[in-house]
Amino acid sequence: MGEVDPAFVQDPEHRPKLSIIEAEGIPLIDLSAINSPNSISDPEAIEGIVGEIGNACKEWGFFQVINHGVSSSKLQKIEAAARKFFALPLEEKRKIRRDMNNVLGYFDTENTKNIRDWKEVFDFNAEDPTLVPASPDPEDNEETEWTNQWPEYPPEMREACEEYAREVEKLALKLMGLIALSLGLPENKFDSFFKDQTTRIRLNHYPPCPSPQLALGVGRHKDGGALTVLAQDDVGGLEVKRKTDGQWTRVKPTPNTYIINLGDILQVWSNERYESTEHRVMVNSEKERFSIPYFLEPAHYTIVKTLEELINEQNPAKYRPYSWGKFMTHRKLSNFKKLDVENIQI
Ligand code: SIN
Ligand code: FE2
Repeated sequence: MGEVDPAFVQDPEHRPKLSIIEAEGIPLIDLSAINSPNSISDPEAIEGIVGEIGNACKEWGFFQVINHGVSSSKLQKIEAAARKFFALPLEEKRKIRRDMNNVLGYFDTENTKNIRDWKEVFDFNAEDPTLVPASPDPEDNEETEWTNQWPEYPPEMREACEEYAREVEKLALKLMGLIALSLGLPENKFDSFFKDQTTRIRLNHYPPCPSPQLALGVGRHKDGGALTVLAQDDVGGLEVKRKTDGQWTRVKPTPNTYIINLGDILQVWSNERYESTEHRVMVNSEKERFSIPYFLEPAHYTIVKTLEELINEQNPAKYRPYSWGKFMTHRKLSNFKKLDVENIQI
């Protein structure tokens, strides 16, 4: 058995269990009622979906969706481009390396909670940052200065990524509408936050790992944004911390589904009616794995604060308002170590 560099080795209490049971529990929600082009939307079916989403958000902070309306050819195209890109020699990939002076791209070193992740990654902005209006506070704007870089090979990479971003955005915004309804809010409640976005998409490649019992593809963490829409291949490895008993449970890959999880912003907006959930990624000694998370994030000038409709005297806001742009800047300055929402808890 090979050994991994000590930088990748998790502390014993955070090491994955190779014999974990796959969770049947993460709800699978059928969105056909909101996506069928020929039928007028059926209010009862939509009410049913809203109820299922509300329960999943409360019980898991995670759910899966099927009949989601995202074109499978767009997903296949970006997956194929990702496979070709990651198969390039390291020197080639490093030509478009992420540069901390605000250029996104490829990188193969990232730590989660000070332990190195067993993965390589390509990041890009879903929205052209030059089109986002400036905020009066210059500190908010640093985030808008991140630009995209594209590899020469494969030549279709940029088109595949941009088309996919537009396609998944529709699903992400529809889900935000359904989540708003599930909180008793108008469907368009969140729309204004996403008029300008800092949404990023990540192509993840987890190569086979000689010591999958010691290392993780991504260490335990919560997502900092509003909502994540994740495409994964059929290898599996994502684990979610079950809220009821704190057990790590594997999400079994289901064909043609997306995995949705709530980020810290929704936890703050909803005053903890919904909470973001810890998750991590196991690696595999034989198989490589690919995944593509889409991180729906608001405009840099957004002040994230608990929604007025969800607080009252008996239930006051649990968080102090914070600027999303500044939060992102601090995250960068701390070398992408996650700033927890706990820092802004009242
Ligand atoms: C992540 O949570 O960052 C990645 C999830 C995955 O690859 O399944
Ligand atoms: Fe994540």
